Amino acid sequence: MARLLSASRAASIVGVPRGIIQKHIQNGELTSFEGKIKLSQLVKLYPDSGIEKDEMFEKIEEFIASALKRARYAKFQKLVTPDTATLASRLGNLSKELAETKTALYHKEQLLSKLHNHLTEESKKNNNSAAVYNSLTEWLNNTEKNITTNTLQIEPLIQKDDFLRIIAAQVHITPSGLEYFVEGKNSILEAGLTTGSALNYGCSNGNCGKCKAKLISGKIEKIKQHEYAFTEAEKNQNYFLMCSNTAVTDVEIEADVAGSEDDIPQQSLSTKVKKFEAINKYVSVLTLKTQRTKRLRFLAGQEVKLTLKDNIVATLPIASCPCDESFIQFHIKNNSTPFSLYLNNELKTGDTVKVNGPEGHFVLDKNSTKPVIFIAVDTGFAPIKSLIENALSLEAAEYIHFYWINTQAEKPYLHNICRAWNDALDNFNYTAINVAHLCHNEILNKDVFSACLSNLIKDHIDLANVDIYSAIPESLTEFANTFFMAQGLDAEQVHFTHS
Ligand code: FES
Repeated sequence: MARLLSASRAASIVGVPRGIIQKHIQNGELTSFEGKIKLSQLVKLYPDSGIEKDEMFEKIEEFIASALKRARYAKFQKLVTPDTATLASRLGNLSKELAETKTALYHKEQLLSKLHNHLTEESKKNNNSAAVYNSLTEWLNNTEKNITTNTLQIEPLIQKDDFLRIIAAQVHITPSGLEYFVEGKNSILEAGLTTGSALNYGCSNGNCGKCKAKLISGKIEKIKQHEYAFTEAEKNQNYFLMCSNTAVTDVEIEADVAGSEDDIPQQSLSTKVKKFEAINKYVSVLTLKTQRTKRLRFLAGQEVKLTLKDNIVATLPIASCPCDESFIQFHIKNNSTPFSLYLNNELKTGDTVKVNGPEGHFVLDKNSTKPVIFIAVDTGFAPIKSLIENALSLEAAEYIHFYWINTQAEKPYLHNICRAWNDALDNFNYTAINVAHLCHNEILNKDVFSACLSNLIKDHIDLANVDIYSAIPESLTEFANTFFMAQGLDAEQVHFTHS
């Protein structure tokens, strides 16, 4: 039977972003059977993606890291392996599958052997049958040679697939089509949020019932008791709480995922200051921590209103990814506004900051798999950073290029993060453009900006086929929009917010 793989699993096995596999499907290079693709087709597109058998154990850590797309976080995170019971359960499933495959193989061997005997007998009885027999035998021998060659290519990919199925279970969510992996004994909710998915949830603690989902196939296991009570009808229909269960095997579940910013409720949270740090003389970074059971639901690129003591408020874009657990980050311009002065002179670690929101429509187009260009001017990096981190965790974009235009005398304030992405990810490019010497009072004028965009065109011959997200001064938005339209982009491909 043909081995079928989900797009996520295929991407993990051959080590490319999921967006690239989806692109192959769109281009007709891979055929999708109800969302799954054949391993035999994948091996034709990626013939060199296997690893040698004798290198298997030496390369195992490196392999797991790349297969699970952890390269970008490898410095900060350790692999979370499943517990013994989960491993035993997954091995049990694989053993069952192996037994079924062996039985099917045995039947096929018996059939072939009987066919062979039958043809031999027939050829002995009749001279005419001998020619047919010889021709069939030759065909069988040639076909077997081809199959053997194919098998040698497919075998390492099957090894990878089986290995991944032991290390991490895959979650497939309908009707959204969302896919991600659950490692260790993470809850299905936690694993989804870590990949930046906009799953519906509330308390994360088994009380509110908002993460309720229906198990369609696969095996789950309760990892914590919950107070939320299901009705008998819900129990009979396999409803469960994503925050209180992990996936033992690959699972398919029916669950709500926010399709757009309109699906995210307005929230009012009380957070604590985790850290406030001046990065250089122009910019500081504020990190807030929410309660673990009351995290902020938002889409990458959105903004919130922050209220400090004495009712000092500011509306700021969130600079972190929704995948960052309970931490939310903001980039603050060091200037003479009451908000900046308070932060720089009076704020202490542990102080309370009220957060209201989220607002804004500067969010990723989740339906697009086009290459993405991000452009930020100075602190326009805040919403762009959120979008980049989200795009990386969702692995939706085939290719990302980030241009950071810096009008300030020093290098961009989080230059090293962008350099790290650039070094660690094959499909990520970073270009820092310092125009401080061309700007008066750090104000970017049209001529300088136009020169930056002209350079960008040289890097991207097929500019009409990309999505562009720009966080630039409001005064340059119209100019940039006209510029991109002249390059053949549609309005849906170009997204703006103000830096
Ligand atoms: S998020 Fe509240 S019960 Fe799961």
